[in-house]
Amino acid sequence: MKAFVFNTYGPPEKVLALADVKKPVPKNKQLLVKVRATTINDYDWSLVRGKPYLYRLMFGAFKPRQKVPGMEVSGIVEGVGAGVTKFKPGDAVYGDISDYGFGTFAEYLCIHEQAVVRKPNAIGFEEAVALPHAAVLALQALRDVGKIEPGQSILINGAGGGVGSIGLQLAKFYGCPVTGVDAGEKLDMLRTNGFDRVVDYREEDFTRRGAQYDLILDCKTNKPALSYLRALKPGGKYVTIGGTPAHLLRLLFWSKILPLFSSKTLRIVGLKPNRGLDFIEDLFARKKLSCVMDGPYVLEDIPRLIQYFGEGKHRGKIVVKIH
Ligand SMILES: NC(=O)c1ccc[n+]([C@@H]2O[C@H](COP(=O)([O-])OP(=O)(O)OC[C@H]3O[C@@H](n4cnc5c(N)ncnc54)[C@H](OP(=O)(O)O)[C@@H]3O)[C@@H](O)[C@H]2O)c1
Repeated sequence: MKAFVFNTYGPPEKVLALADVKKPVPKNKQLLVKVRATTINDYDWSLVRGKPYLYRLMFGAFKPRQKVPGMEVSGIVEGVGAGVTKFKPGDAVYGDISDYGFGTFAEYLCIHEQAVVRKPNAIGFEEAVALPHAAVLALQALRDVGKIEPGQSILINGAGGGVGSIGLQLAKFYGCPVTGVDAGEKLDMLRTNGFDRVVDYREEDFTRRGAQYDLILDCKTNKPALSYLRALKPGGKYVTIGGTPAHLLRLLFWSKILPLFSSKTLRIVGLKPNRGLDFIEDLFARKKLSCVMDGPYVLEDIPRLIQYFGEGKHRGKIVVKIH
């Protein structure tokens, strides 16, 4: 079978090679999945380059232990290992497999049965694969941590990416007005997608515009923690899903101290993969939610697409069709 393999950290187009490798055999509790589609995520951009260096602590100090990247999959179960109880050959599955490993940039993948869930028939393989990581991050940020309430004013920073595009639809489901912050060239797309107001982060600092929100979802924390308080109404919540490690660390520190002197809160989401996907599937079936898809592309495009993702040129979720 074909898979994208890398043996050293570096630029995706330099270090990733399409190789013929042995088709894997499922071990205990594992499924052999024929990959129908995958996506590009921040994890891939970081894992392949080994940056931030923190990643090397987890994935190999000098060279990657994990040879095939990719962490979102939709596909068909082709075989099962001993002890598998949830699935049988022929079942359609999808999920964010990052709690159990990587390896979706390949024609086949062996993964623990808990890493995926059953794919509803109403959702196609290419749409399904665009959902688990971004939709679950957006849901856990807005609903589970942010405790979104109908009619609240919401701001999404990094609005043009995978999480932003789903976060907007979730906020609209709750009847909330939403402001989106992203690069100038994406603002027309944001307006078309339904953001009520848009801000170009290269022109304006959303924490200094005088506007205040009940809930901020940040995909790109890169400012001092306390600066976000300026953009929150009394009792407002700032919830981040990602950003630079240094800023996130300081934010974590301030999140513990802030309750001593403010009604505003700062929170960081720790993703629980695939938790809440049933809610997302229900919204999808009721046409309350759809995927903003960049693609679908083909397997051979993956190194170029990781670079394209890293340069922030994508619109919504990059989807790659494999079979
Ligand atoms: N919390 C967890 O457990 C967890 C787990 C996995 C991943 N994550 C995080 O989740 C995030 C993924 O979000 P995503 O998939 O939506 O990312 P994405 O698709 O890359 O979207 C991010 C958007 O933010 C924009 N952007 C870049 N710099 C910005 C800035 N300074 N201000 C405002 N917008 C900016 C980007 O546009 P341009 O680059 O074109 O400007 C892009 O449109 C990552 O930060 C990742 O680290 C969190």
